[in-house]
Amino acid sequence: MLVFNKKSDLSAFLSPLINQNKSIGFVPTMGALHKGHLSLLEKSLSENDVTVMSIFVNPTQFNNAEDLDKYPRTLNRDVEIMQELSNNIIVYAPEVDDIYEGNTVSESFDYDGLENQMEGKHRPGHFDGVGTIVKRLFEIIQPNKAYFGEKDFQQLQIVKKMVSKNKIPVAVIGCPIHREESGLAMSSRNERLSYEAKEKAAEIFKILKSAKTFFENNSPEATISFVENEFKKFPEFQLEYFEIAEESSLLPVSKKEADKKYRGFIAIFIENIRLIDNISLN
Ligand code: PAF
Repeated sequence: MLVFNKKSDLSAFLSPLINQNKSIGFVPTMGALHKGHLSLLEKSLSENDVTVMSIFVNPTQFNNAEDLDKYPRTLNRDVEIMQELSNNIIVYAPEVDDIYEGNTVSESFDYDGLENQMEGKHRPGHFDGVGTIVKRLFEIIQPNKAYFGEKDFQQLQIVKKMVSKNKIPVAVIGCPIHREESGLAMSSRNERLSYEAKEKAAEIFKILKSAKTFFENNSPEATISFVENEFKKFPEFQLEYFEIAEESSLLPVSKKEADKKYRGFIAIFIENIRLIDNISLN
């Protein structure tokens, strides 16, 4: 397996392949790989001649220094996990300076308002950081297709918007959320949960599923109250938000319309660790 730390070396390796019209699939990650990441890799391996995965904990998308500090970094284990899957994955694992060249700041992006909802409201600057890193990685790797998990559904919509506004020739592909047997959405942050908290965190998906059923015969407002009340039964959780939004605009919904697709989005703390998840409601 080839692991590159420098963008110049990666570009030198990829450019003859790009010239030969080989299709390049790209899976951007921050490492601490789990089965959700592996499913993105498998899809890319099956659809492209070459698959590149980046492992980079991007400082500019963290609005909380402690969260950045505590984000799991497990490069050696990640490489071993990938090796078990396939020897044909090209890894790009840069240092901060290889990406930011001494100027670790975000560009600023206009995503037509998508950035002002949910995660954007609660994590100021987060999506400028995401846009900055994803755009730079696309410039370095020049993929034909890039794969993103739907757990970060807002991120997926934002990346699609960034690509279309900047006319970047890459197909952004959303892939379904991978869940533990308990229903807990797979996330690198789960590694930081104690055994007990991980067990308890299974309630998140259980409550989301009940919310989906409740939403069938009730208004968005009543469904939000239902979810808030359900979580009040569990003092271990601190609910940051549960919102119901229309899928493409991500605008909060007050009244259901027949031809619209809705999703419930949640951010919640347990043991001071922030988890997000979402569920299609109709
Ligand atoms: O979803 C993530 O892991 C990150 O936000 C991404 C897309 C790799 C950018 O740093």
